Amino acid sequence: MTHLAGEFGTPTYIYDGDRIRERFRALRDAFPSFELFYSMKANPSLALVGLLMELGAGVELASGGELFVAREIGYDPLDIVFAGPGKTDRELEDAILARIFAINVESLRELDRISHISRLLRVPARVALRINTSDGLKKAGGGSTGPLHEHMAGGPSKFGIDAEKLDELADHWDRKTIDIVGVHVYTASQILHADEIVANAERTVATARRVEDLIGGKLEAIDFGGGFGVPHYDKEEQLDLPALGAKVENVFSPYSERDGFRLILELGRILVSECGVYLTRVLELKESRGERFVITDGGINQFVRPMLMKVRHEAAVVNRLGQPGTASAKVTGPLCTPIDVTSQEIKTPDDIAIDDLIGIFNAGAYGLSMSPLRFLSHPTAAEILVLNGKASLIRERGEHADVMLRQKPFSGLE
Ligand SMILES: Cc1ncc(COP(=O)(O)O)c(C=O)c1O
Repeated sequence: MTHLAGEFGTPTYIYDGDRIRERFRALRDAFPSFELFYSMKANPSLALVGLLMELGAGVELASGGELFVAREIGYDPLDIVFAGPGKTDRELEDAILARIFAINVESLRELDRISHISRLLRVPARVALRINTSDGLKKAGGGSTGPLHEHMAGGPSKFGIDAEKLDELADHWDRKTIDIVGVHVYTASQILHADEIVANAERTVATARRVEDLIGGKLEAIDFGGGFGVPHYDKEEQLDLPALGAKVENVFSPYSERDGFRLILELGRILVSECGVYLTRVLELKESRGERFVITDGGINQFVRPMLMKVRHEAAVVNRLGQPGTASAKVTGPLCTPIDVTSQEIKTPDDIAIDDLIGIFNAGAYGLSMSPLRFLSHPTAAEILVLNGKASLIRERGEHADVMLRQKPFSGLE
């Protein structure tokens, strides 16, 4: 990583494309009846989305901007699904006109809106009903220590149609404008308990059966969210993908045996999170009243996730990996706010020095795109993709002048 910092500068995100490919293949092997869709929100960098498309992933979108990207890079519309609890008319129009595989409908009101728009466009809309099942996760999403706030179903939720409201479906379903092609259930992110995922699969199959009864016909697809987590704490373990896959495949077998039926897994972080490192350089070292601070050139403006989601991201002095970490310190960025902490605890050699490199790991998902990039007007970090041993710049580092982009200067008091 030292040579990449030398060549491309810091702060920089580095993604290991070979590892993404390995992850993709491991998931594909573990879930042979499923199509893997990449949740673009996890990391919408063009080159990563392109890599996943080339590996054979479909794509799950959550905005018109993401739809634009998917179409620009040449995704087959039938490999696109679009979820999100607040879609604008324009986004719905674009999705209908693009004839994507499914718009995942999050409420019966949204179904009415889609009908209306599809009638005006004279193009039928393909939808999957996203259901907020009556039960959700029993255990915390992120394992024993992880946060609870990535739950999206099983209680009051802005996501999905409450299961108990499905009986009203007939009043909202205009068969001339809407093809109900699928069911979508996404319960939570960052699930590391295999039994929870299997329970989720069982709920999803039961929900699909109920929807087929209600519509009096057969679905074409089930989008079984996923929510597969990645470990952040020592006591958390990787999901055992082959074992999990065998169980989930078994639950879905009544559907996988149907000719042409599409089973979809939409996955973000498990594909890209552990394949990314946020690489920063030490600008300052400080000891204050017994606490040590390592102050780097990149902060929460580029990687807000540890602070926002209160989740631990391991960090290391990557140009001295062989040296014992003897002293504890907090890693902070250069921002003028005490919340600018990218790692709560790093072990450093005693003689850590200015210009040493700090890598924050597990940073491939919800990194740059989730962060308040404009905060304090620092240039946006560069991004590098390493594939087949070759590093390529996939996002140029920003410049100070970017701050002016699309702004109008003050035009005077008069
Ligand atoms: C509907 C939906 N699908 C997929 C994802 C991707 O989640 P993850 O990155 O945890 O795999 C999310 C995350 O918020 C989501 O809301």
